[in-house]
Amino acid sequence: MLEKVKELLQEVEKFVSKSEKETEEFRLKFLGKKGEMNALFAAFKRVPNENKKEFGEAINALKQNAQAKVDAFKGNFNTENENEEIDLSRPSSLDNLGSRHPISLVRNQIVDIFNRIGFTVSEGPEIEDDWHNFSALNLPEEHPARDMQDTFFIQTNPDVLLRTHTSSAQVRYMEGNKPPIRTLSPGRVYRNEAISARAHCIFHQVEGLYIDENVSFADLKQALLYFAKEMFGEKTKIRLRPSYFPFTEPSAEVDVSCNICNSKGCNVCKYTGYLEILGCGMVDPNVLENCGIDSKKYTGYAFGMGIERIAMLKYGVKDLRLFFENDVRFLKQFDKSI
Ligand code: PHE
Repeated sequence: MLEKVKELLQEVEKFVSKSEKETEEFRLKFLGKKGEMNALFAAFKRVPNENKKEFGEAINALKQNAQAKVDAFKGNFNTENENEEIDLSRPSSLDNLGSRHPISLVRNQIVDIFNRIGFTVSEGPEIEDDWHNFSALNLPEEHPARDMQDTFFIQTNPDVLLRTHTSSAQVRYMEGNKPPIRTLSPGRVYRNEAISARAHCIFHQVEGLYIDENVSFADLKQALLYFAKEMFGEKTKIRLRPSYFPFTEPSAEVDVSCNICNSKGCNVCKYTGYLEILGCGMVDPNVLENCGIDSKKYTGYAFGMGIERIAMLKYGVKDLRLFFENDVRFLKQFDKSI
């Protein structure tokens, strides 16, 4: 008996299937209702007790190996074309192309809109020092406004941190370039915030900076109105509300008219008709001086926005976390052409 099991084991080991039919024949021979395995299990009952252990182990191994072979070969052959020759001249099937991530799409669009009015892109490191992220931006140590941005420090060294905004890249740009300056800093930023539908500890910003002689608040308003119309449509209106940022004076927050309800009021704009999109203001003279720019001769404006926020408004996405989960069903809905 045991001999027979060993022979069958060898047969299973050697088996190589060349077609779906052969695999099925093999399966029936071993695992089918009237197959070898069932016969062996029936015979098992008659095996003397002292041999049961050895015999039982052998037939279990046989069954497992046979099943593994079936699993390995099943579905490997295309049943329809089994007997047809392969046509090598047929065009290949198209690769499934991916789409750009919505955050990249919106980032590129923002950069493109500001490119057209003379802004070029500048980038900086994501791991920053205190000077570029805070002090140069008129946020000296112990300044209470540092609490506005919950910072991730690297190890316990307070001088090595993950940038909380891309304004740090603009400090670097001002330090290395003379006015006129017209630069745009897109990039990833980090804040120690609880993750929810409206906030994440990693997100993306685009910040803009324009410094020249006689730059005024009117220039800022005009640039932002142009941006809002290009981004959300020709009929879009903007509204500025006074605000506070340590690095700008005066400062404002900018809302755009809600294009979902045409400013009539809906649950997206919380019945106000407007949606907040960015912060901005005239660069504080202290910041200019910190970066080696003569604040008597030059003035400038700055603005900063979250890319996720713009993308949520543009595509009607209600939960910010979707941008980070990389669910292909979500990602492939976005236009490949931009
Ligand atoms: N840096 C600000 C922030 O991260 C945004 C901002 C940029 C505000 C420039 C005003 C001017 O919130």
